[in-house]
Amino acid sequence: MRIGIIELNAPFCQAGLAGYSDRAMRLVARRRGCPYAVTEALLDVILLSGGQGLKKSIDINDEDHPVAGQIIGSEPQTMSRAARILEQHGYDVIDLNFACPVKKIKNKARGGHMLRDVERGIAIMRAVRSVLKPQTPITLSLRRSFDDSSESRDMLYQILDEAWQLGFSAARVHGRTVEQKYTGQADWSSLIGLKRQYPDRIILGSGDVFNAEDAVRMKRQTGVDLVWIARGAIGNPWIFRDAIRLMQGKTIQPPTVHEQRDALVEHFDLAMQIHGESIAGRRMRKMGIKYARFHPHAAEVKKDFIQVSSLTDWTSVLQRWYDTDAPGVWPAPDAADETREDSACAIPEPS
Ligand SMILES: Cc1cc2nc3c(=O)[nH]c(=O)nc-3n(C[C@H](O)[C@H](O)[C@H](O)COP(=O)(O)O)c2cc1C
Repeated sequence: MRIGIIELNAPFCQAGLAGYSDRAMRLVARRRGCPYAVTEALLDVILLSGGQGLKKSIDINDEDHPVAGQIIGSEPQTMSRAARILEQHGYDVIDLNFACPVKKIKNKARGGHMLRDVERGIAIMRAVRSVLKPQTPITLSLRRSFDDSSESRDMLYQILDEAWQLGFSAARVHGRTVEQKYTGQADWSSLIGLKRQYPDRIILGSGDVFNAEDAVRMKRQTGVDLVWIARGAIGNPWIFRDAIRLMQGKTIQPPTVHEQRDALVEHFDLAMQIHGESIAGRRMRKMGIKYARFHPHAAEVKKDFIQVSSLTDWTSVLQRWYDTDAPGVWPAPDAADETREDSACAIPEPS
């Protein structure tokens, strides 16, 4: 399995997730089998404006490969300059976000808007391709169309045809329309259609992958080359190891309480190194709530994580609930995932 020159050892990838998929989340997942990870969408003009906080949040290290840096923006010129910055920073792949259902800000269309402004999207793709080294893989993040009209579906194909012409290495498609945002179900049959249309191209499938079983089911039902694991990876770095085991026909167990504790300690520590204690405290609160799903006393642990804002708070939740080892539990099926991307998906937090 390859994305351009990048070799992957399993057909799974940790998604770009604004506010979550920083280096800390990526490393915790990689140590548990994640073969490939993507940054959150980074707004091109913020990358261009630089600054110390930004550098800290986009830094990668030796352990954080292969990694795709994802950019979002409106103009070919700023998008291509931002792409160069990430390439020079050591990112293995550059991913263009034509997927986020972000609101138009000051008439600037970006993200999923490219699916109805194909001319602009193609201009961005050409500009980015022209400034990167020929061997640097470029990928696209898309939704299945802007809306449900047939014109809109044609536009997706126009963009993809151009991407292959330009030598793009892969495309990731979320099986919802841009208009749909996160409502309804992701339409996996659109992924089957894409693989049929482009059997020799690398397609990453996305949408409603909440656990390892879903990941394997998407891979098998749709034939996509890679499964993009998004909400299912938040607070569940074991999803990668589990999906790999299921692909091998092996059984899986929920992480034990001590396995959970190890991941929680590691995650906070890495987040603190990147963001400092105060921002790490805020970011980790929502992570802790997601991790809590695997604990035998999930509801009470979740309540305690909601109160966390410092390392001391975090440590005391761990002492209270994670000191004694016990088998973990699978999250209840009715624990529907309400996590939604907000419209500020492209703005990295200053640290
Ligand atoms: C909180 C949140 C933040 C997201 N941020 C990004 C992002 O920065 N870049 C991106 O390409 N997709 C982003 N997405 C979309 C996901 O990567 C994924 O495509 C979508 O959630 C569908 O997959 P799922 O239903 O399996 O979660 C985000 C989604 C959520 C819920």
